[in-house]
Amino acid sequence: MLITLEGIDGTGKSTLAAALATALSDLNPVFTREPGATWVGDSVRRAIAERADPVTEALLFVADHAAHLAAVVRPALAEGRLVISDRYTDSRYAYQQVTLDGIIEHPLAWLHDLHNGWTVVPDKTFLFVVPIDEALNRLRQKNGREHFEERKVLEKVQENYLELARADPSRFVIVDAMKEREEICSFVAAAIRQDVKPGNKRRRKK
Ligand code: TYD
Repeated sequence: MLITLEGIDGTGKSTLAAALATALSDLNPVFTREPGATWVGDSVRRAIAERADPVTEALLFVADHAAHLAAVVRPALAEGRLVISDRYTDSRYAYQQVTLDGIIEHPLAWLHDLHNGWTVVPDKTFLFVVPIDEALNRLRQKNGREHFEERKVLEKVQENYLELARADPSRFVIVDAMKEREEICSFVAAAIRQDVKPGNKRRRKK
């Protein structure tokens, strides 16, 4: 079972991932992330830091995904493990649609094509949604902001996420990230438990 956590920067989803590790410890999940679960992640970090050309950056995110699938996700799923990834392909669909705007004619279609045939589609995706002002407030308390973390970018990225959720309502669960941390954690943990009940096999493979 593959679960992904998505949302703009500043929604608190990485904090939630840490809380879920405790709440779901009896299920022995594999917690992982994109970017950066493999060595390719170092190149991605460098591309972000150096503001590499957007196509280079996008392709490195995809390369990181391929390495992540090969090294972490596929082996864990093959063992029947529950895998929970902090960011995954929807991050590319939401963010790179913005960074590639004006460079590639149809960024979403291009990104879909790049993943088609070899990626693994998540069984469930929790999308954390927060007002942009709140996200920026939370990010202000963090040093070293990335170029994604600007109002205009985050607004468009969140719109893209919501559009992805509208297009695939059976996979996406929208979570109000303004709620109390404990409430969010118990809601998400309960929803995951519901999905991993015996008999609920992976819905789809791609
Ligand atoms: P992340 O490591 O989640 O952020 P943080 O450094 O705050 O922990 O991701 C770094 C940035 O990369 C984040 O702004 C989202 C962006 N990103 C993409 O643009 N495309 C992608 O495919 C992924 C996985 C992340």
